[in-house]
Amino acid sequence: MDAVAVRPGTPLHGTIKVSGASKNSGVKQLAAALLAPGVTTVRNLSPVKDLEVMIAVLRAVGVEVSWTGSEELRLDTSGTLEPEAPYDLVTRMRASINVLGPLLARCGEARVALPGGDNIGSRKLDMHFTGLEAMGAELEVSRGFVQARCNALKGARVVLEFPSVGATENLLTAAVLAKGETVIENAAREPEITDLAAFLNRMGAHVLGAGTSTITVEGVDELTAADTEIMGDRIEAGTFLMACGIAGGEITLDGVRLEHLEMVAMKLGEMGMRVSKTPDGIWAAAPERLRAVDIQTLPYPGFATDFMPLAVALLATCDGTAIVTENIFDNRFSFVDELLRMGADAITDGRHAVVRGRERLSGAPVRAFDVRAGAALALAGLRAEGETVVHEWHHVDRGYRDLPGALASLGAEVSRL
Ligand code: EPU
Repeated sequence: MDAVAVRPGTPLHGTIKVSGASKNSGVKQLAAALLAPGVTTVRNLSPVKDLEVMIAVLRAVGVEVSWTGSEELRLDTSGTLEPEAPYDLVTRMRASINVLGPLLARCGEARVALPGGDNIGSRKLDMHFTGLEAMGAELEVSRGFVQARCNALKGARVVLEFPSVGATENLLTAAVLAKGETVIENAAREPEITDLAAFLNRMGAHVLGAGTSTITVEGVDELTAADTEIMGDRIEAGTFLMACGIAGGEITLDGVRLEHLEMVAMKLGEMGMRVSKTPDGIWAAAPERLRAVDIQTLPYPGFATDFMPLAVALLATCDGTAIVTENIFDNRFSFVDELLRMGADAITDGRHAVVRGRERLSGAPVRAFDVRAGAALALAGLRAEGETVVHEWHHVDRGYRDLPGALASLGAEVSRL
């Protein structure tokens, strides 16, 4: 059965090693490995479902891929590449579009199916396309595919209308092999971009300014395959922190950087939690019940949209009322209806939600709409009378290695059905 059962239990206690950020960083670096012929070893890669999709995309393109350890993948990109990413794979994972920039840069052409929208809102690709066109690519969208061609990419100044993570990544991975200098203004500043840029620089690229709003790339003629180690997953870490906020307790997270979760730590601090840095990660302690605070999502270093559903689950159990504003996606509140099934007191209106905290929720069968929404419902179950069963758990497995197992190791009553 594709479901997870959660029962309220004791406060959380223990230490946990945070997984590598496979979904939001790993798959992007796998795509970037296409830029150079040769062998790449990728470490700290937790085997989440989205990774399987990127592996399938790379195999379809002609890359030899094999696991060389439980968290280590070997890619051999030396063979001839077939620069086409098929529809059935791309529609399973949006980030497949990340092969567009590298394939175009290395092969001079790419044909990638269009991923379409998903459960959190419309997700356009216009900035990916106009940026690549500014670098000299010719793009044509037809029959559900984007077909891109270029003789040689040339450096350009690209100003993004919004600091899109995916557009920044696609343009960055195209620019590294372009002739001359590319400047990406209003670039996304997420730590995953910095992780990607560090990998590109190890391959011989000249990328400056990753992690700031202006990224400058001096194109090089060729890159050399290099190894990489994926950063700790800040979203998974934030999920554990929110779980601790809901259930109470004291936890230590290893393998993640508090700097990547500064805004979350600040908000949890305002709510009454103690969060501090340890030599290898984060320590946090939560009293029995936290206080509500308002939250609005913003691009990094603001409060990430991916934490929003988790924060709403937490606020549903806090003392007080909070206003939550979602500024990144236009339809990320649909999971709130499922929380209402659990007795939450919340209303949504467009990009806003008002959440009035309840001492306890009530366990119910609910459905995961996307990866974070499903995780949020499981977290809510930690403070609900009786049993909560989250159906369609496969959405959660797209981005978490084993959330039920991890929560159980902290003492929560969570199990797969
Ligand atoms: N957008 C455009 N045009 C574009 C690109 C984006 O209008 O050309 C809009 C989107 O429609 C959206 C906003 O810009 O409203 C942000 O999109 P962005 O491109 O930044 O998001 P993404 O790269 O598609 C990644 C993460 C998401 C995360 C967002 C925002 C991965 C695989 N996905 O998506 O992660 O929410 O950045 O930080 O890295 C998740 O982990 O649950 C998740 C959805």
